[in-house]
This record gives sequence, C-alpha cells and structure tokens, in this order.
Amino acid sequence: MIRYQRNTSLLPYNTFGVDAEASHLFFLESPAGLTDLLDFPGFRKMSDDMSNLLVLGQGSNILFTDDFHGVVIRNEITGINKADEDESSVIVEAGSGVTWNDLVDFAVNRGWWGIENLALIPGTVGAAPVQNIGAYGVEAADVILRVNAFHLEKKEWLVLENNECGFGYRDSIFKRELRNKSIICSVVFRLSKKVRPMLDYSGIREELERMNISEPSARDISSAVASIRRSKLPDPETLGNAGSFFKNPVVAEPEYRSLVTKYPHLKAHRQGDFFKIPAAWLIELAGWKGYRAGSTGCYEKQPLILVNYGGATGRQVLALSEKIQESVVALFGIYLEREVNVF
Ligand code: EPU
Repeated sequence: MIRYQRNTSLLPYNTFGVDAEASHLFFLESPAGLTDLLDFPGFRKMSDDMSNLLVLGQGSNILFTDDFHGVVIRNEITGINKADEDESSVIVEAGSGVTWNDLVDFAVNRGWWGIENLALIPGTVGAAPVQNIGAYGVEAADVILRVNAFHLEKKEWLVLENNECGFGYRDSIFKRELRNKSIICSVVFRLSKKVRPMLDYSGIREELERMNISEPSARDISSAVASIRRSKLPDPETLGNAGSFFKNPVVAEPEYRSLVTKYPHLKAHRQGDFFKIPAAWLIELAGWKGYRAGSTGCYEKQPLILVNYGGATGRQVLALSEKIQESVVALFGIYLEREVNVF
C-alpha cells in the first residue's frame, strides 16, 4: 500500500523552506508502488487528468508561491547498483530518489570518474536529468547513458537513451514534452575507470594546490569541489535557498561585443556562436549582491542565489526575483530566465 497524506505542509520537502500545502501527497518508495498509485481510489480525479501533478525529489529547485491543489508525489526510490563493467568503464544504475551526493560518494570511493565535479549538488538522482544539473565544467548529460521512466498517461515504461533526452543547458525533455507526464524511476550512468580529471573550471586547480595535491584522485576532486561550494554557496539546512535562481543568459556576438565595450572586465564563456554571460555578474552590477528586504535576500557571496532568512513566503521571494529581472533588463537589456521551478 502506498503512503498517502491529505492537506500536508510541504515545508519539510523544499529547500527554500517556504510553507505551502499539498492537497494530496504520495510517497513513492519503489517502482512497484506505481501500480498502487494508479490504483489508488480517486487518483485520476485528484490529479485533474495529470495536469496538476508534481513529482518532488528533495525539493531543491522549487519555489511554492501558493498551496499546491493537486497531487505531489515524493520520490523515495533508493538503491545504487553496478550493472555492468568492462576494462575502461562501469555502468551504474541509481534509484531516482537517491540523494545525488550519495551517488557521487559511491563513485569516487570506488575510483570511478565522471561525476566528481558534481559533488554536493543538492537534490536527488532523479532530478539530475530533469534540469541536466551541472557544475564546475561537467553536466549530468555527459555521463547519463539512459533514463528509465514511467509514462503516467500511457501507463507504460519509457527507456530514454541519452540522445532521446533532449539535453541542453539546464534543460531536457522532462522539463518540456514529458513535464507532468512521467516519473523517472532510475538513471543509468556510464562512469570511467580511467583517470580523467576535469580541472579547467576556475578555482579547482587552486583549491587542489591549497590541499597540496598534484595528482588528484576522483575523491580529491570531489573534496575540492565540495569545499569551494561550501565557501560560496549557502547550505539549505541553515539558510533556505534553491541554488541558482536564474540561468546564465546566452547572448549573440553583437550583444556580447557591446557589453564588453562598456564593461571590459566581463568574463563570458564562448559557446559556438554565442556567449554565456554570468548572471551573478549582471545581478551584482545591478546592485543586488547582499541585498536584504525582510526575510528574503540576495546571497552576499553569490548573488545568483536568492535566500529565505526564515519565514519568507514564496510570493515574497518571487517578488524580489521580479525586481531583479526588471533592473537587469533596464541596465543591460538582458532578461534573466528562471532556473528554479515556480508553482
Ligand atoms: N560572479 C560575480 N559575482 C559573484 C559571484 C560570481 O560577478 O558574487 C561572476 C564571476 O564573473 C564568476 C561568474 O559569475 O566568474 C561565475 O560564477 P560561479 O563560478 O560561481 O558560477 P555561476 O555561473 O554563477 C554556475 C551554476 C551553478 C554551479 C556553478 C559552478 C548556473 C545557473 N549555475 O553558477 O549551479 O554551481 O556554475 O559550476 O549555471 C545551480 O544550478 O543551482 C548552481 C548552483
């Protein structure tokens, strides 16, 4: 029997720490529980033909601005298994409810390479393909082999190979065509047994030097990344937040050139014909870094992160984010797209 609660506070289930209520909350503990879910009396009616359905991992990329009048499914499917291996690589399957950093630890403790740069990203394995999590020069899409999901409307299993997931920068098919339609149950990764350090993102080499390490193991890199993250990013356990609130905007060359002419210190990353501009830099220049209004604010060490100092409502956070968007548009003509999902 599936665990079910009515009119339940989602406060413990979102890292922003805002209070909102779910009309219906289910706890999915195994893929087999999907049958119980679909057979649950009145399930179809509750979820309004699935248009009002939300699958929640650890709620680390979400902002509730109101009660959720529908069905929330909290994913608690666990388990990490080595599925296969050859001389150079290993195939690992992880349940979608596994804490992402537990998977990173599992891999680096065995000397398997590929996700060490993604250490300490909050959230679950199931969220990794949804927003194609990324940090320090690596994205989940670089190591995901396939995703196993269940299509709630068609009631059938989906096996999506990497190239069928529509991965982009913080984007995938699960955010678009399959939004509210599927539940990811496990993710299969291909990791490398061969030493494969990726140290180009600024700050990693410096941190390893500080640690006196010249030939880092995967574990050393995950420790270095974890320490950089701890120094820059607020721990949601102590300060409510959902990581980067906005995506880094990507602009065409003429727009980039005119920005550099005005701001010669701008550090952008070229991406083919386009340039990725650090949103944190735009927000800082617009004067928001360290800004605080009541219980919401813009984090003092990384202005791309909006925080809840305690007791903020989702609407207050959203209002601050809109003010930031407006002022960045007014100053630079660039619209910052949200990374966090707002409900
Ligand atoms: N910057 C500032 N002021 C600051 C901080 C940063 O101007 O106070 C500028 C600097 O130019 C700096 C640049 O922003 O070089 C990049 O900063 P950082 O390395 O901290 O990364 P980010 O682009 O702001 C992205 C991801 C993070 C990820 C880091 C590290 C997005 C939206 N965010 O942030 O991911 O941890 O890179 O790789 O792509 C998340 O998605 O929730 C997240 C935290």
